[in-house]
Amino acid sequence: MIRGIFVAAVLAAGLSSVAALAQNNTIAERQQLMKGLAQAGRAPGAMMKGEQAFDLAAVQASLKTFAETAKKAPSLFPAGTETGNDTAALPKVWSDKADFEAKWAKFGADAEVAQASIKDEASFKANFTGVVRACGGCHETYRAKKN
Ligand code: HEC
Repeated sequence: MIRGIFVAAVLAAGLSSVAALAQNNTIAERQQLMKGLAQAGRAPGAMMKGEQAFDLAAVQASLKTFAETAKKAPSLFPAGTETGNDTAALPKVWSDKADFEAKWAKFGADAEVAQASIKDEASFKANFTGVVRACGGCHETYRAKKN
C-alpha cells in the first residue's frame, strides 16, 4: 500500500514535470516563430530605409513568412502557457483571445494582400509599412515591454 502510494506520487511528479516541459516547449516554439518574423522583416526594413537595394523576391519571401506565421501563431498560445520560459505574453492574450486572434488574422490577410499588390519598388514603398504596423500594434497590447 505504502509502496503503491510512493509509486503513484513519483508518477504524478513525473507527469507534471512532463507537462511543464511541454508548456515550455510551446512557449519556446512561439518565441522562435517570432524571431523568424523579426528576421524576415530585416531586409525589407533596410530596403525601406534605402540601406539595401530593392529586391522583389526577398520582399515576397518575407511576406510569405508573415502570412504563414500568422496562420500558425494562434495555436501556440494554448491555455496553460501563460507563464514559464520567460514568456513576455501578457494575460490579455488569454482574457481577450478573440481580439488577439483577430489581430493575427488581420496581419496574415494584410500580408497576403501585399503579396498580390507589391510588384515593384514603388508598390513596395506604398504597401509594406502598413503590414508591419501590426507588429507594434499587437505588442503594445499583448506583449510585456522588456528593457
Ligand atoms: C497578434 C499579435 C502579434 C503580432 C501581429 C506580432 N507579434 Fe511579435 N509577439 C507577440 C507576443 C504575444 C509575443 C510574446 C511571446 C512570448 O514571449 O511568449 C511576441 C514576441 C515577439 C518577439 C520576441 C521573441 C523572443 O525572442 O522571445 C519578437 C522579436 C517579435 N515578437 C517580433 C514581431 C514582428 C517583427 C512582428 C511583425 C512582422 C510581430 N512580432 C507581430 C505578438 C505579436
